[in-house]
Amino acid sequence: MKLKHLVSAAVAACAINTAMAGEVEVLHYWTSGGEAKSAAALKSMLESKGHKWKDFAVAGGGGENAMTVLKSRAISGNPPAAAQVKGPAIQEWAQEGMLAKMDAVAGTEKWDSLLPAVVADVMKYKGSYVAAPVNVHRVNWMWANPDVLKKAGVEGMPKTWDEFFVAADKIKKSGAVALAHGGQNWQDFTVFESVALGVGGAQYYDKALVKLDAATLKSPTTTKVLETFRKLKGYTDAASPGRDWNLTTAMVIQGKAGFQFMGDWAKGEFTAAGKKPGSGFLCAAAPGTANAFTFNVDSFILFQLKDAEAQKAQQALASAILSDEFQEVFNQNKGSIPVRLGHDMGKFDDCAKLSAKDFVSTSKSGGLVPSIAHGMAVAPAAQGAMQDVVTQFWNDDKMSVADAQARLTKAAATR
Ligand code: GAL
Repeated sequence: MKLKHLVSAAVAACAINTAMAGEVEVLHYWTSGGEAKSAAALKSMLESKGHKWKDFAVAGGGGENAMTVLKSRAISGNPPAAAQVKGPAIQEWAQEGMLAKMDAVAGTEKWDSLLPAVVADVMKYKGSYVAAPVNVHRVNWMWANPDVLKKAGVEGMPKTWDEFFVAADKIKKSGAVALAHGGQNWQDFTVFESVALGVGGAQYYDKALVKLDAATLKSPTTTKVLETFRKLKGYTDAASPGRDWNLTTAMVIQGKAGFQFMGDWAKGEFTAAGKKPGSGFLCAAAPGTANAFTFNVDSFILFQLKDAEAQKAQQALASAILSDEFQEVFNQNKGSIPVRLGHDMGKFDDCAKLSAKDFVSTSKSGGLVPSIAHGMAVAPAAQGAMQDVVTQFWNDDKMSVADAQARLTKAAATR
């Protein structure tokens, strides 16, 4: 008996040592203030389980740079253990046959019942989990600085695009920048999808930007979307082109600008700056989108590894990501809401509480739609082609709305 115990103790010690030696190299693009805090939470959780985190951060909002780097590492046969990849791109990586299955962890920890079906489906390839979801970001947000609004005589957050332009005119007159916008392709596309949702509604959005229906893209509603989108440019500042999203959020934080349209990772910046919703900043759904929700779920894919110890560390990462403890800390820093169903929102701020409430209600009403600008709605090729058109239209004041609309319809057919 004694011997048996000793043997099993030795085996257990061995297992711990083995686990301790595991290292995961994690590719991500969380480099802004709020994001870095969030990434640090994941790192410390993994390290508390005895594994090593090798940071592989590639700066660049929206992750385009990170994806380029990931492809070159994968092509050279040396992918990282884990990478921040989401939406339909997960399927493309899985089709390459490079991903590890997470079914063991997912089964033990009951991911199927922990996750909303709309999320679980995206994480699976041929019935197996190949990605672990981290959070739910809402993209259709409008952020504002309450002092700037007050000074300009703007009462309350605008609920329609008409109200928005009235408010923006007042802010412009008061001397502040009405709309903080970072002129980068993915930020242009982020604003565009909120305009599309607000002007056309969730059904239009679904047909035009998820199903990529040509007739809907050619419809008068798309014309109106493009016109509204173009009008916004007149409210941005001269330094907008090329500016990073977090520096753009900083304009609102510092009272230089009134509004910003950005997903709720922007809230991570307000929070990191010590601002509280209500007094330090305001959040509301973008005009016309209160009954809809563009979701953006961050997730990690895990690559197949040969080393057994590294595999264990990978599994530990997947398990940590879905833990209650991690979801609580990470999402408060990141601005998103937990992806686990039924998570207690008690300690979250009012914007997150609204997001959690709207996530549930829109999933029942049909207002829950995937974000195209953040890789959730369509395959990367069509997304990239459409994003290019939107950016060209934003930057080239001479491009007619009709021309942009025709190009957008053509781009949507890219495979
Ligand atoms: C989104 C991503 C967020 C945040 C943001 C800015 O696509 O889902 O987690 O990182 O880009 O980079």
